[in-house]
Order: sequence, then C-alpha cells, then structure tokens
Amino acid sequence: MNRPLIVANWKLNKTINETNAFIEVLIPLAKDTNDIDIVIAPPFTALHSAHLALKESNIRLSAQNLFHEDKGAFTGEISPLMLVDVGCNYVIIGHSERRQYFQETNEIINKKIKAALKHALTPIFCIGESLAEREAEKTFDIIRIQLAEGLKEIKPEGIIIAYEPIWAIGTGKTATPEQAQEVHNFIRNWLLSFYGKDASKIRIIYGGSVTPENIESLMNCIDVDGGLVGGASLKADSFAKIVNYRRRKS
Ligand code: PGA
Repeated sequence: MNRPLIVANWKLNKTINETNAFIEVLIPLAKDTNDIDIVIAPPFTALHSAHLALKESNIRLSAQNLFHEDKGAFTGEISPLMLVDVGCNYVIIGHSERRQYFQETNEIINKKIKAALKHALTPIFCIGESLAEREAEKTFDIIRIQLAEGLKEIKPEGIIIAYEPIWAIGTGKTATPEQAQEVHNFIRNWLLSFYGKDASKIRIIYGGSVTPENIESLMNCIDVDGGLVGGASLKADSFAKIVNYRRRKS
C-alpha cells in the first residue's frame, strides 16, 4: 500500500466564513496524522482564505476543477496558473458530476490532466461506472476506456486516480470493500501494463459514500490507497474521524 491520501471534496458548499470555521476545528484534530496526506477541496471562492488558514498545518489544498489553458479569452474559467497562485497543490479532474452536468469528455479531461501536470499541480483523476453500466457488466470496459483516453500521452509521475462508482456517490450505497478492491486491482493491473512497474507507486483512492464507519474496512483493501470524501467531509468532526481512522483503531 502507498502512503494514504484522504481528500475532502466539498463540491458546491461553504462560504469563506464556513471554510475558516471548519479549518479552525480540523487543524488540532488532524495534527497527529503525519502518516497520511490530508487534502481539502473548497470551492474556488474560498481557496485563498483556506490557503492562509492552512499555512502552518499538515493539510494541503485542492481545487475541484480547472480549465486547460493558462490564460486568454475564456470567460468564467480558472487556469492552472491561477490555482498555483492561490496556493493549490492538487486539483480534482473529471469528477462524474462534471462529466454528467458539464459534458466533460475523456478528451477534455486528458487536456486538463496535462495542464495540471505542466504546472506541478497533482491531478486527482476521477473514473467510475454508472449503475446501468455495472448491471450490464460493463464496469471494466468503462474503466479501461476512461483510463486509456484520460491518460493518453501522460507520464505516471505525480498522478492520482480516484475510483468513484457513480451509483455510490451521495447515495449512502458504498461499494463493499470487495467491490472496491476488485476494481482497484483492475486499475492497478491496467496501470502496470501501461506504465510498467513505476505504476505501483500511483495512488488509487476510493470515493462514494465514504464515512467514519466504513473508512477503515476500505483502507484495509490492498489496492485502496485513500479516500475521496464528499458528504462526510462537510463537518469537521466527521472528516477528522475519517483522517484519524488509524489512530481510532489502536
Ligand atoms: P460522497 O461524494 O462521499 O458524498 O458520496 C464523493 C464524491 O463525489 O467525491
């Protein structure tokens, strides 16, 4: 297993004041977690204040999206340069909500991953199948296409994969550890055959109804290197329980 990574994906939630209040509670609760990487992904408007509030902490900052150009006539977009400028180290790319509501294709996602890497932002590249695709036994085909098209012409260094079955996002229906491990193992093997042995260092994190109650059993899976947490990351005490899953065990 690689060094664990737990990411809070706040989606379209939290003002600047709410972000600061969350961080104030989280920092002391997360201070003994030096054996894992912790990242929070607030909305764009709260990134600057979050960066200032996190400065002396072990918690890093992520954006939830970017545009693939550095600058220019692209009204309403945010570039990787701007994310670095505001203090981000990571960026979530290709979340299923962006694929579903904003028509992001694998080709667009590939451009975004390249843009992030060009500016030393770590992309958290999301993939996952819908319920219909799982029921039609197309999970591995979908994952294979998302990986092949999303990672086209991209080197393995500095990428993170987030496996998020769409049927598990925000539904309370977590994949069982066996279901998660099965797909994570498929992803690991695909990466190994695409990149060679360096791929064993690529972190593959799981997302979809992760909670303080199920994080430990998911993290016990050999190919699960972390979690991408939505709903359960919105309250500092709940997210703190998740990042302390190892300490709660002992
Ligand atoms: P959830 O969201 O934890 O609320 O299911 C996860 C995600 O969409 O990243």
